[in-house]
Amino acid sequence: MSFVIHQYHRNQNFPSFNRPEVVGYFSLNGQEREYSQDLSQLKYYTRNPHSKQEVDFDLNEGLDQVIRKPANLDEKLDHILRWIVNNYRTIRASPELNRWLRPEFVCFRGLLTKIVCTPFENRDGWIICAMKFHGTIYLFAFDTEEQKCKNANLTKKDLQFMSWGFKFEQYVLSDSPGSSPKTDEPVNEAEEFCCLFSTKLGHKTLLYGAEMDGVCSRDVVREPVNWKYLKFVELKTNRVIKNSYQEQNYRRKLLKWWCQSFLVGIDEVIYGTRTDQGKVFELDNVKVTEMPKIARAFWNASECMNFCNDFLNHVRTVVTREYKECVYKFEYKLGETIEMQVLPSTSEFSFLPDWYIDQANR
Ligand code: A3P
Ligand code: MG
Ligand code: MG
Repeated sequence: MSFVIHQYHRNQNFPSFNRPEVVGYFSLNGQEREYSQDLSQLKYYTRNPHSKQEVDFDLNEGLDQVIRKPANLDEKLDHILRWIVNNYRTIRASPELNRWLRPEFVCFRGLLTKIVCTPFENRDGWIICAMKFHGTIYLFAFDTEEQKCKNANLTKKDLQFMSWGFKFEQYVLSDSPGSSPKTDEPVNEAEEFCCLFSTKLGHKTLLYGAEMDGVCSRDVVREPVNWKYLKFVELKTNRVIKNSYQEQNYRRKLLKWWCQSFLVGIDEVIYGTRTDQGKVFELDNVKVTEMPKIARAFWNASECMNFCNDFLNHVRTVVTREYKECVYKFEYKLGETIEMQVLPSTSEFSFLPDWYIDQANR
């Protein structure tokens, strides 16, 4: 069975999408990415987020001491599932809904970003798998053969590029509003602060986890947190633009920036402009609402969100059988239709662990 990505009209209305609300959070530590349901990994952006400013950061500083995220962890959806088991009372469905949890879909923001960007994607395909448990559809993206191949052949240069973004974060984020960034310590790329967001796209309720770079706050954030009044920031690095080709690349890249930020209600992306040698010399910001206008010639946000809405509607229609029976695999190969396969639940594409099912059934 296939799902066709037809041409969406630019002037088609934006599908209804509520501003996402934070419903929970957790931290993963820098050792074995151990889960703790607290704010321990929350970082603060203490500069003025609205002002352009000159800086002097060397992204290669301490590169040989970087602690990378262990490659063999294979965490899948586990941290989100853990959060659900600990907090299901806050997201339990009302009895008439005929399912366990209020959200109809559970996934990571990264997966939604993949779906949303599909109409304008010209490099990578994707594999998204779906399993239904007590009426809710869980989604997880697996690496395609091409991605596996890329990951297995990362060069030193690739790893260096990947580490630059984390080093940049270290230069501008602090552990508390009153302290300075600790730029002498090795960067630990395994640490993470993650928020759970709830929203509605069309008539579908979604719950997703997203790694949050930092929060803008002059006061220490304490529990219980009132997230409504806190602003998160998304941090990026961007190569200095010297010609129209690079300008076009930047505008194309804004789709990913827009999507990532829009899905978690972030208003502003702060980016460090860097040289090819990894020197950041300027901080600037771009408003998320401006991005679709800046990049009008390259992508269209309404087309993207309509595609996501339609694809999730399709998934909801076809994913009818429970996790015990099968896992549904959707594969998008660049420029082709999206093909679905129904696989046995013992397949390598299964991803709901027994401990989750056991705890949820208690
Ligand atoms: P940049 O965003 O400055 O490129 P994020 O911006 O999503 O919070 O990610 C932080 C950093 O992690 C990125 O910084 C980049 O260095 C690294 N990173 C994230 N996703 C990556 C990917 N798929 N491949 C390589 N590096 C990635
Ligand atoms: Mg991030
Ligand atoms: Mg970032």
